[in-house]
Amino acid sequence: MSFPVDVVVMAAGKGTRMKSQLPKVLHRLGGRALAQHVIDTAARLSARSVVVITGHGAGQVEAGLQAPAGGTALRYVRQAPQLGTGHAVQQAAPVLPDDGVTLVLSGDVPLTRSETLQALLDLCAGERMALLTLDMPDPTGYGRIVRSADGSVQAIVEHKDASEAQRAITEIYSGIMAVPTRLLKGWLARLDNQNAQGEYYLTDVVKFAVGDGLGVQAHRITDAVQVAGVNSPLQLAELERAHQGRVAEALMEQGVRLADPARLDVRGALVCGQDVEIDVNCVFDGQVSLGDGVRIGANCVIANAVIEAGAVIHPFTHIDGEKLGVRVGPGSLIGPFARLRPGAQLGAEVHIGNFVEVKNSTLAAGAKANHLAYLGDATVGERVNYGAGSITANYDGANKHRTVIEADVHVGSNCVLVAPVTIGAGGTVGGGSTITKDTPPGGLAVARGKQVTVSNWQRPAKTKS
Ligand code: UD1
Ligand code: CA
Repeated sequence: MSFPVDVVVMAAGKGTRMKSQLPKVLHRLGGRALAQHVIDTAARLSARSVVVITGHGAGQVEAGLQAPAGGTALRYVRQAPQLGTGHAVQQAAPVLPDDGVTLVLSGDVPLTRSETLQALLDLCAGERMALLTLDMPDPTGYGRIVRSADGSVQAIVEHKDASEAQRAITEIYSGIMAVPTRLLKGWLARLDNQNAQGEYYLTDVVKFAVGDGLGVQAHRITDAVQVAGVNSPLQLAELERAHQGRVAEALMEQGVRLADPARLDVRGALVCGQDVEIDVNCVFDGQVSLGDGVRIGANCVIANAVIEAGAVIHPFTHIDGEKLGVRVGPGSLIGPFARLRPGAQLGAEVHIGNFVEVKNSTLAAGAKANHLAYLGDATVGERVNYGAGSITANYDGANKHRTVIEADVHVGSNCVLVAPVTIGAGGTVGGGSTITKDTPPGGLAVARGKQVTVSNWQRPAKTKS
């Protein structure tokens, strides 16, 4: 059984309870817009196309979403004014080919599993209407699934239109359905707005299908998170936790050891090798990969970085590769309290200690900068030891220049290397030096203010304010 699937994502509504300038479906969950989750899920179903219905903040929504990977086409259809969910799908009808099945989703319901939607499509089988439904202890506000005595689905009745007896029904419509497109178009044309809200209800197509003798199937699930929508900051935060819980579970299934799955945030794609350990309160953003045996200490924020096998990132380290990326070589030790910025490329067994900042610099194997230092636009050779308090003065106020520190150089404490400058291999820079000229290999370079003034001086008495 195989039929093309075209997904309609409803995203025209306002979402006033978010109290935000940002259109609701662009709020982020796990680092991606809510509606992006829906689009990406559609792509996992190998849908032929995704049509997003936009209205409120249409331009922003259209600019804020991306076509999914794979062959699924993404397009937008605008709905103005917004006259209800049936009216929304009516706007998409002209771009939906008759030979497929339409799967209706909502842009603010991000956590539906693709397996669940596949089961719904299997139930639809290209010829029936299939509704995703859920039992809710408190169904207030939702459309109720009205069944006949033999259990077959008869209609969806919206809460505001429901009788007392119907309001007692706890099986609700999730907002997700799969319908053969050719039939759907006929029913959409018959919708009216003669109801409590004066809206064109998509849910009215169910009674038309029943009237036309078409089987209406319900796929009833128990996992409310999969159909939960985001209407408020509280609901957004709740779904964020649910999403993070799923991510943590998947990582642990692969063997990643998380100190506490409830204290991990992954806002992009985290790829881990074997025997990776992650302590509490770490945030991973963008594309991050952790090689075999990598250990991440507590309270690290790591974005767009490759951490190679056996490296240890000590607590409170901030790594952000942004566009250039960061690479930490195998067996390196980073932190605590280190900062690696875009273009930091560290070889094997490099040590970067507390309060050391590295930006756009290459450090070869075995190089060390253990305390209170800055390396910017520098090329650092193997086994270089870079002293506490030393910096590269890489910026002359207009342009950036490179500092080259060749292999086996020792840079003492509190040095300023004024770029462009090269320290020759095996050389030593004496503590407290300001180096403005290239130094030869093996040399000792010392350049300090020579004069020391000592005089009698008394600290002034403190004046009361
Ligand atoms: C809808 C269902 C209800 C179901 C509930 C599940 C209808 C009539 N009712 O109700 O049976 O239990 O979802 O959450 O369908 N939208 C548009 N254009 C519009 C109106 C809505 O794009 O003109 C979008 C919204 O942005 C949202 C989705 O459609 O993404 C659902 O709209 P919403 O107003 O939340 O529907 P409910 O009234 O909650
Ligand atoms: Ca709703």
